[in-house]
Amino acid sequence: MRRARILLLPLLLLLAVAGPAAAATAMTADAGIILDLAKSLTNPPPSWTGTDVCGGVSFSGITCDGAGRVTGINLVKLHLSGTLSSSLANLTSLQSLQLQGNVLEGDVPSLARMGSLETLVLDGNAFSALPPDFLEGLPSLLKLSMDNLPLNPWSIPDAIAGCAMLQTFSASNASVSGSLPAVLANLTSLQTLRLSYNNLTGVLPVGLEALGALETLQLNNQKSDGKLSGPIDVVAKLPSLKTLWLQSNLFTGPIPEFDPNSQLEIFNVRDNKLTGPVPPSLSGIASLQDVSLSNNFLQGPKPNFTAKTVDLKSGNGFCREDSGPCDPLVTTLLEVALGFGYPLQLAKWAGNNPCDPWPGISCIKMDVTQIKLPRQNLSGIISPAFASLNRLQRLDLSNNQLTGVIPDALTTLETLKYLDVSNNRLTGQVPEFKQPNIKLMTAGNRFGESGGDSGGGGSNDGSSSSNPTGSHNSKSNVGMIIGILLSVILLVICIGLFLHHRRKKNVDKFSPVPTKSPSGESEMMKIQIVGTNGHSSISGSVPTELYSHSSVDSTNIADLFESHGMQLPMSVLLKATNNFDEDYILGRGGFGVVYKGTLNGKLVAVKRCDSGTMGTKGLQEFMAEIDVLRKVRHRHLVALLGYCTHGNERLLVYEYMSGGTLREHLCDLQQSGYTPLTWTQRMTIALDVARGIEYLHGLAQETFIHRDLKPSNILLDQDLRAKVSDFGLVKLAKDTDKSMMTRVAGTFGYLAPEYATTGKVTTKVDVYAYGVILMEMITGRKVLDDSLPEDETHLVTIFRKNMLDREKFRKFLDPALELSAESWNSLLEVADLARHCTAREPHQRPDMCHCVNRLSSLVDQWKPTNVIDDDEEGGTSEMGLHQQLERWRCGDFTISDSESFSTYNTSRKYH
Ligand SMILES: *[C@@H]1O[C@H](CO)[C@@H](O)[C@H](O)[C@H]1NC(C)=O
Ligand SMILES: *[C@@H]1O[C@H](CO)[C@@H](O)[C@H](O)[C@H]1NC(C)=O
Ligand SMILES: *[C@@H]1O[C@H](CO)[C@@H](O)[C@H](O)[C@H]1NC(C)=O
Ligand SMILES: *[C@@H]1O[C@H](CO)[C@@H](O)[C@H](O)[C@H]1NC(C)=O
Ligand SMILES: *[C@@H]1O[C@H](CO)[C@@H](O)[C@H](O)[C@H]1NC(C)=O
Ligand SMILES: *[C@@H]1O[C@H](CO)[C@@H](O)[C@H](O)[C@H]1NC(C)=O
Repeated sequence: MRRARILLLPLLLLLAVAGPAAAATAMTADAGIILDLAKSLTNPPPSWTGTDVCGGVSFSGITCDGAGRVTGINLVKLHLSGTLSSSLANLTSLQSLQLQGNVLEGDVPSLARMGSLETLVLDGNAFSALPPDFLEGLPSLLKLSMDNLPLNPWSIPDAIAGCAMLQTFSASNASVSGSLPAVLANLTSLQTLRLSYNNLTGVLPVGLEALGALETLQLNNQKSDGKLSGPIDVVAKLPSLKTLWLQSNLFTGPIPEFDPNSQLEIFNVRDNKLTGPVPPSLSGIASLQDVSLSNNFLQGPKPNFTAKTVDLKSGNGFCREDSGPCDPLVTTLLEVALGFGYPLQLAKWAGNNPCDPWPGISCIKMDVTQIKLPRQNLSGIISPAFASLNRLQRLDLSNNQLTGVIPDALTTLETLKYLDVSNNRLTGQVPEFKQPNIKLMTAGNRFGESGGDSGGGGSNDGSSSSNPTGSHNSKSNVGMIIGILLSVILLVICIGLFLHHRRKKNVDKFSPVPTKSPSGESEMMKIQIVGTNGHSSISGSVPTELYSHSSVDSTNIADLFESHGMQLPMSVLLKATNNFDEDYILGRGGFGVVYKGTLNGKLVAVKRCDSGTMGTKGLQEFMAEIDVLRKVRHRHLVALLGYCTHGNERLLVYEYMSGGTLREHLCDLQQSGYTPLTWTQRMTIALDVARGIEYLHGLAQETFIHRDLKPSNILLDQDLRAKVSDFGLVKLAKDTDKSMMTRVAGTFGYLAPEYATTGKVTTKVDVYAYGVILMEMITGRKVLDDSLPEDETHLVTIFRKNMLDREKFRKFLDPALELSAESWNSLLEVADLARHCTAREPHQRPDMCHCVNRLSSLVDQWKPTNVIDDDEEGGTSEMGLHQQLERWRCGDFTISDSESFSTYNTSRKYH
């Protein structure tokens, strides 16, 4: 009895104190939360009466466990409206929350404490926001479905990686933006990933191949501007994949090879930018039922699918209507394109006739004789398949991003006469070409480096095997290099002596350059030095910041000039241009011929002045002119690197600009193969040119006038930054008042009226020509177009007329321009500037520094933030105070007030 009392007492105590209290609070807490929910719904289910939440009969849709905790809320398709109360966050035993098919709105409460939640279905409600901790703390989640929600834009949080057991993630039409996070790859149990109709951008993360259980992948119809893009290779690495929907995106590259045992049933890649042939491994998949490939750039043989539904009829470039094999030439060229990864640039290699012609291909009698693909941003490797084109004579792959080696097979091409692979990232060794008289251009590569990082198709074993050699080996390498250097120096001396001996003979060998001379005036003749002490005053050094930053690393060339001054021996230039080889000609002008050349492994442009028009110009005058040219240096002026005089020969060596001329980028697109420039690119070029001319006009030590500004004199580098070339300079002497008379030089159409009629030349002559160039950049038209009716031939007249009518003007713009509202506004401003620049009276035209100010404010608006602005502003402090004042003064007057042009004093002098 006593014993029982002793036992019973604590038990009673326990019951009295802890028991009832604990049970009551747990019950009431979850029940209270459900009662909260009933209140926040505007139309709670009719059965929800009383307070016995877990009692069973009332409160339909609510399930509880034995301890009275709520484990399920399943309120499907009840037309419930209202919001979810925030206290829902405290239902920490919840396993299933299914609310699909209602019209609930407001915020989704925090779910972060629901460690047991397995099913979350929110489809088709009207929620506007997700909690900030969305997907945190949900390690048990198996199914997440949230389609068709008008949410504020959100992106998939990295916290999703914590939902390690997730099998279904479906959030289509749910305002998902941003990119697919790499952590999706951690969801290795995922079977369904559905993110269609969102605002996703970016590429498919390569890590997705870890999703070994994924059966359904639907990423179609992204609504963002950039959509989903990049290659789709990873989809072929998903072993369980059955349904793939990627349609209506911007995916590029070829369809990958599939495993023959693939389970694939539905393959939809319609409306993308896929290229290359359809791999037979795809058409061979037995389980395929539904295939859709329309509206891509697929090439090669038309695939032969056995699937029930096949859609490939429109918008592809298969070689034939039936599934038969392609012409062998097509097969070979597609192998070539394979080397480049089937780039979009070669998507027009479609159909069965490369001589149709395909871009970059030239044929004679249905045999490919030339392939020219310079500056196409090609990456990948040079395919050995080129060697199957057994009539190929010329191959130009210069200025791309090619890696790997030059295939040995090319040495077997008997017809090959010309191979230009300069300015790529090729490695290994240049193979020995035995073809007689073959011209090789290989400068600007990484020959001799190991191809380890090139990714260039494994054909570089030779060089990489020499990589892991010991350090003592590199010492002997140094010795070897010194040896080679010594023998090279000896050889150079010998050749020098030899050439010296033969110099007279050589001179006779260069025939005069046959060129047309439209202006009747040579480059050199255009330079006129006014004033007797002209060049003594410009001997002061130019601030180094203003020196042209050449895209070509010119240090080696600088060394060369170090030993010769700027004067180069004829022998060097003969070698650089392969004895002025026809194949090296870059262009011809009124003054002579420009050759591409290689000096010390760097590309240069060598201008050989027309000896016919050089006349009797004395050496002393030429040297005085060189003195001017070399002082005029600026990052937006093509730099003179050196010169050569030899008998009657006059040669100028300039930096080489790999991007061609502005003219080629504006109106000769068909021939040049360039893609049209965007508005932002045009503005950047316009500003570069304005800066170069501004420097000539005022910021250099003295005033220079270009006199022949036109798009073919504006050269671009690989990054489409511009430099002005070919200055036929007139230097205004300090004491010259406003203008001076000269013989008219220049190009019709760009000539300012007063200059054309009287020969009176001021800096405003250049401003006029600049205005014309702006008009050409806006309209994509040439200044004179004889193909148009007579009253429309002159661009300036018709441009100024069309500007009066906004609608007419809109139609008049370059159709290749895609303009946002922002760029349309800036275009109008530039058009206005162009109009003022081409004013009839010189004093009505703005100064060049005004153009720079106007354009730089416009360009800065759209410059992508990751572009590093040029350091010109930093250079200001290095300039004289006087020049700064000039700039500030220019910034003071505004162009919108045309009155101010007439009152603005154009006879400012520079000291
Ligand atoms: C959850 O419960 C805690 C105490 O049990 C309370 O302080 C908190 O306010 C509750 N949270 C919500 C969102 O109601
Ligand atoms: C997308 O969701 C909204 C509601 O958020 C719905 O009205 C619309 O019909 C849905 N669109 C599609 C294509 O399902
Ligand atoms: C998607 O992005 C576009 C702009 O790219 C925007 O207009 C649209 O409102 C966005 N849609 C959603 C659902 O976020
Ligand atoms: C994802 O998985 C990788 C390796 O499988 C792991 O290192 C990483 O921590 C995981 N990320 C997260 C966020 O769990
Ligand atoms: C396409 O495939 C079917 C079945 O494999 C075959 O009978 C037919 O000859 C093929 N057609 C062509 C043109 O290859
Ligand atoms: C050139 O190609 C690279 C990748 O191959 C790309 O990132 C770059 O944007 C391309 N540049 C241009 C101008 O198309």
